[in-house]
Amino acid sequence: MDNRYFSDKVVEWYKSNKRDLPWRDTQDPYKVWLSEIILQQTRVNQGMPYYLKFVERFPTVQELAAATEQEVLRLWQGLGYYTRARNLHKCAKVVVASYGGVFPNTFETLLKLPGIGEYTAAAIASFSFKEPVAVVDGNVFRVLSRVFGIEDEINSPEGRKIFTTLANSLISKKYPDFHNQAIMEFGALHCVPKNPFCSSCSFLQSCFAAKHNLQSALPRKIKLKSARRRYFYYIVFQKGKSLMMKRRADKDIWEGLFDFQLIEKLRSIKPEKILSEFQQAYRKPVEIEEVEISRDYRHVLSHQVINAKFIIIKLRKSPPIKDKNLKFYTFEKIYDLPKPVLITRFLSDYKNFYS
Ligand code: ADE
Repeated sequence: MDNRYFSDKVVEWYKSNKRDLPWRDTQDPYKVWLSEIILQQTRVNQGMPYYLKFVERFPTVQELAAATEQEVLRLWQGLGYYTRARNLHKCAKVVVASYGGVFPNTFETLLKLPGIGEYTAAAIASFSFKEPVAVVDGNVFRVLSRVFGIEDEINSPEGRKIFTTLANSLISKKYPDFHNQAIMEFGALHCVPKNPFCSSCSFLQSCFAAKHNLQSALPRKIKLKSARRRYFYYIVFQKGKSLMMKRRADKDIWEGLFDFQLIEKLRSIKPEKILSEFQQAYRKPVEIEEVEISRDYRHVLSHQVINAKFIIIKLRKSPPIKDKNLKFYTFEKIYDLPKPVLITRFLSDYKNFYS
């Protein structure tokens, strides 16, 4: 297929089928960047309220750079993968400190910023500055592998290279912004993973997958090893209307977010056993008023599955714990703390706490 034909067709499709999305009304690189970082983390529908919240609270990169990390994490809460939020904040600070608050305007210079990889650099360079450099995301892999019959695995370095080279050979030099938006939108709405709309497709006559009935086999991926299973037992001390929480400091998931005292095990254990082990660890017994044990929570992350239980220990006095990072926080304070979704799920179930 002629490259020009591919670009013209996909852009033509885009013009009559695109969604009206707030980040499409602007070429402001700050807003393009913000939307793309959020959309790497979630789908359009879920990402939209986050984008609107961020733009409202931080209309410019200067305002984002001046925020505290805690506030950025709090606004990001629920999107997961908090390293991305920390990099977002870091990048805003670098743009302000080293680039006078103006985003660099080429693919190569954008790549130097923290948290900006090839995908984001290509999105900003093409959407904001019309540089003809192709975006390559999951949607683009799917469209290209099917239409052009590329069977290389999309999650291998060699495969990535092949797809990137093809995508860059197809891009319209005149309308790289429309071309990139169009191919992503076509993948998101038309050439979808399951049951794509082949019968009404502009590429039906020339599509490799349609011709060979390979729509569900393409794109190909190397199978990754299965997720790591983790067993979390949280000790939740409650005193009146306050819970004891700590800020996670380890190089692990959820760094910088707040959770409770954590006991991690390699396998599932009865919570009563955890509780008695925990009590034995103190010379002075903890004066317990009441103990409640939560239901099981299962929390799925990209490479880990967490099974969690919360052991709520109600106390009259503070427990004899030496850890300076553990502190009691009132409900109002807890609401404002950045927390993993697992903790928010538990808190909203734990109605006693509110009553
Ligand atoms: N997914 C990633 N980037 C997007 C964009 N700019 N518009 C719609 N969906 C997207």
